[in-house]
Amino acid sequence: METYAKIVATASYLPEKIVTNDDLAQILDTSDEWITSRTGIRERRISENENTSDLCSKVAEELLAKSGTKATELDFILVATMSPDYQTPATACLVQGKIGAVHAFAFDLSAACSGFVYALSMAEKLIRTGSKKGLVIGGEVLSKVVDWQDRSTAVLFGDGAGGVLLTNEGDYPLIEKEHLAADGTRGSSLTSGYRMLQSPYALESIEQKSTLTMDGREIFDFVLRDVTKSLQALLGEEASSIDYFLLHQANARILEKVARKLKLPQERFLQNMARYGNTSGATVPILLDEGIQKGTLSLGSQQKVVLSGFGGGLTWGHLVLCL
Ligand code: ACO
Repeated sequence: METYAKIVATASYLPEKIVTNDDLAQILDTSDEWITSRTGIRERRISENENTSDLCSKVAEELLAKSGTKATELDFILVATMSPDYQTPATACLVQGKIGAVHAFAFDLSAACSGFVYALSMAEKLIRTGSKKGLVIGGEVLSKVVDWQDRSTAVLFGDGAGGVLLTNEGDYPLIEKEHLAADGTRGSSLTSGYRMLQSPYALESIEQKSTLTMDGREIFDFVLRDVTKSLQALLGEEASSIDYFLLHQANARILEKVARKLKLPQERFLQNMARYGNTSGATVPILLDEGIQKGTLSLGSQQKVVLSGFGGGLTWGHLVLCL
């Protein structure tokens, strides 16, 4: 008999501190009008004292509590992040240690804003090949990687985490279709965390910014051209039968344009970037959890939902889920 993965719980955690566009206008040459009209973002959460593993551990604890699962039952923990506490240990290992998931293997996955979509795809294969239970979490503290002098990027990002608990108890395939992709030739349009050679043997050290850099226009065009085309190719005629689209929350204008290109009503594209900004790998699982909390989405309902991530790498990916 086939084994199918099932999402049995979702959870999210946002730091308490709310920073509005007007707050940012106090420290940067920007305005609420510019940020709202160009991006749809009104406020974001900024961590004052919690790192990425703290946010992800809160999500992990909530997932266990909601599903009545013991940490010792977990086989794996995957964390999608581009803002880990350390390069090593992985954020997923810090979470594993904190919650006491002694039987779980744990690793981070680095695919920027596509990270959660990539990770959920990998986790579904783990379940289909023998793992019984695991956590997939997207978590970011982007406030520690952005350049706070650069108004063109600092206003866009926020901190947060979200995730799902997967089991092998599904009665039908969780992922009906998927497409994951990357184009490393265009990686320079979004960079973060550059480390230069610094050993005594290094011949030359090329200096580059280590804080986040982004060519916003280039990414905007990439999403509207390449990402939308790949989504159209994956869905074909089926697009109209999708109940909801949970796209990476980078910019409200992008979502409006994608909906128009797919000839679908805006209401099917869930949005929360007004309140949280772009939390990279965390946007999709936070949106999924919010949809479930509000009752728009329901686990076990067999609603058809598209999860779609796109961003640094460049990377992009779409999953057609049957909830
Ligand atoms: N406040 C006021 N003015 C600003 C600000 C700001 N915060 N930021 C930039 N400006 C100015 C610029 O200096 C420029 O001024 P100029 O014309 O005098 O030179 C003007 O506004 C226009 O700037 P653009 O960058 O051309 O603005 P644009 O309309 O392209 O919007 C934005 C920028 C919002 C970043 C948009 O390009 C975008 O959303 N791109 C996509 C980003 C995205 O999808 N990222 C996803 C991946 S993220 C990840 O993977 C981590």
